[in-house]
Amino acid sequence: MEDQVVELSLRPRYLAEYIGQTQVKENLKVYIEAAKMRKEALDHVLLYGPPGLGKTTLSNIIANELGVNIRVTSGPAIERPGDLAAILTNLQEGDVLFIDEIHRLQRTVEEVLYPAMEDFALDIMIGKGPSARSVRLDLPAFTLIGATTRAGLLSSPLRDRFGVVSRLEYYTIDELTFIVTRASEILQVPIVGEAAHEIGMRSRGTPRIANRILKRVRDYAQVRGDGVITLELAKSALQLLQIDDLGLDQIDHKMIRTIITNFQGGPVGLDTIAATIGEESQTIEDVYEPFLLQIGFLQRTPRGRTVTPLAYKHLGMQPPEPK
Ligand code: ADE
Repeated sequence: MEDQVVELSLRPRYLAEYIGQTQVKENLKVYIEAAKMRKEALDHVLLYGPPGLGKTTLSNIIANELGVNIRVTSGPAIERPGDLAAILTNLQEGDVLFIDEIHRLQRTVEEVLYPAMEDFALDIMIGKGPSARSVRLDLPAFTLIGATTRAGLLSSPLRDRFGVVSRLEYYTIDELTFIVTRASEILQVPIVGEAAHEIGMRSRGTPRIANRILKRVRDYAQVRGDGVITLELAKSALQLLQIDDLGLDQIDHKMIRTIITNFQGGPVGLDTIAATIGEESQTIEDVYEPFLLQIGFLQRTPRGRTVTPLAYKHLGMQPPEPK
C-alpha cells in the first residue's frame, strides 16, 4: 500500500515533467493543443509497448493537459456490453476513457465500442424476436485511450478506429538516470550521480523497474548506511536483489540457462520454456522476452526461441561453434 502511494506521487502529471518518449510526446503535444483550440475531444489514442514504460501515466497526463476527467478501466473488467454502456453514458463531454489491456475485451463488448468510437452513439436493442428493434442513443464526444502490451492481438476493426497510434520504446540509460534523480528528489533521499546512473543501467529500459529498485536501495541505505545512496551502497543493494550488470534477474538467468542446457540453445517453443522454468507463457512473452530480444540475447524463429552467442558469453558459457 505504502509503495503504491509513493508510486503514484512519483508519476509526472504534465508532459513537461515527463522524461523520454520524445517523439510520442512531441506528437501528443500538437494533437492536444489542436483539440483544445477547436474545443473538440482529442481523437482516440492507442498506446502500446512493453509493461512499465508509462502508458497509464501518459494517459493521466493527456487528461490533465486537456483539462478533462479520466475514467479508468480495463479489458477484463468490462465483462458485458451493459458494463461498457454504463461507463459510456456516464462520461462528460470531452472526457478521457482509459481502457488498459484493451486486447482482452470480449468481442461482444468490442462491438458496442465501434459505434461509440466512430459516431459517439450507443445502439441498444429493445425487445426480443421479430419485434426487436434497435434504438440509437447519443453519447458525449469522448477520447478513448487504449493501452496494450500486444498491439498484434487487437482486431483490425478496433485498431483502425484509433486516430493516433503510438508505440512506447524502452528508455535510454541517460533518461532512466534522470528519472531516478527526479524520483530521489521527490522521495527526499540523497543520491550521488554515479549511483543514479548505476540504477539506470540496471533497470531494463523501464521506469517502473528503476523506481522499484530505487526504493529498495533507499531501504538499504537507511539501514546499512547513513541514508545517502552512494555507488558502493547501490551496488551492494543490487547484488542483494540479484540484479546483474545488465539488469537481468533470476528469472532471465533461469530462462537463458534452461534454453542452453536443456535445449542446446534452441530453437525451443515458448510453452516448453514456460513449463520447464515454471512461469506463465504470457508473462514470459510480455515481460521477460521483449527486453532479451532488445539486447540481442534471444531471437525468435519460426521454430521457437534461440539463445545468441552474446547471452552465452554473459553467463560465462562457451557458445557452440557455428555450423
Ligand atoms: N516516472 C516514471 N516514469 C517517468 C517518466 N517517463 N518521466 C518522469 N518520471 C517518471
